[in-house]
Amino acid sequence: QWTPDSFIESTVRELRDKIKGDKVLLGLSGGVDSSVAAELLHKAVGDQLVCIFVDMGLLRKDEFESVLKSYESMGLNVIGVRAGDKFLADLAGVTDPEKKRKIIGRDFIEVFDAEAQKLTDVKWLAQGTIYPDVIESISVNGPSATIKSHHNVGGLPEKMNLKIVEPLRLLFKDEVRRVGRQLNVPADILGRHPFPGPGLGIRILGEVTAEKVRILQEADKIFIDGLKESGLYDQVWQAGVMLLPVQSVGVMGDERTYENCVALRAVTSTDGMTADWVHLPYDFLAKVSNDIINRVKGINRVVYDISSKPPATIEWE
Ligand code: XMP
Repeated sequence: QWTPDSFIESTVRELRDKIKGDKVLLGLSGGVDSSVAAELLHKAVGDQLVCIFVDMGLLRKDEFESVLKSYESMGLNVIGVRAGDKFLADLAGVTDPEKKRKIIGRDFIEVFDAEAQKLTDVKWLAQGTIYPDVIESISVNGPSATIKSHHNVGGLPEKMNLKIVEPLRLLFKDEVRRVGRQLNVPADILGRHPFPGPGLGIRILGEVTAEKVRILQEADKIFIDGLKESGLYDQVWQAGVMLLPVQSVGVMGDERTYENCVALRAVTSTDGMTADWVHLPYDFLAKVSNDIINRVKGINRVVYDISSKPPATIEWE
């Protein structure tokens, strides 16, 4: 019978047999899968595991620092790479969603590769691939094709002559969480909503600029903190805020304003392939809307997305 304990015990043994004294490299994303894979490998081979965590400048507000701290407190040997400026520079003037995705994916690989190549004697590349990823990569297109291409690391295995190790390959998400809990991976990492690889880059509709990232991070933080404070966060599969390429007229005191609009999105789902919008309480929405408009300079209108998938997707780009 499968239990987290038996899985951990047998996997740790297999990893030790396989990896022996070699060095292993792993890309951390802040998400559940890569974090649990890291902790499992760390248990098996200790500091032979080296992790790289890239800040694309497109994560939630303060998330890079706080997740990096969590990783350090887990005892992981992690290199944090701050590369936000590169991503912003390369995204300047680009409005097409697929082009944005390609640039972000390409930059990610470049930054990761450059960092990896500074390391010596690495023999293995570990990935947090889980069973649904294995299935999806066999199935046709759809968003999943893009999802998988994002955090995989291009031609690195060939360039550095690395062998791949994927310790979570046979697990479903709930099993990954149970294993993570058993390994004492922090609860805020295990319970985290899914977050797209290209990050806020695809939640800023149209061109991405530093100012828009700042505005969206502020609004997103108010929404997500609100969900947590109201006990709603765990009832929602994924939530976030979209910054729309729309300005509208408002009033502030005696002044007319002409500012940005954001859309709140919260969905229930099991796998992201279909999704329903969440019937969040009106009082909660009212408070979030007020807080965003009062506290985030540059936003004067908030709307709630009441579209299900299909036909709408979860992300707007
Ligand atoms: P959509 O918008 O297609 O999203 O309904 C389904 C799920 O996938 C995530 N998503 C992405 N994840 N790279 C990723 O790593 C991407 O390009 C990407 N696009 C969408 C989205 O957040 C949702 O969980």
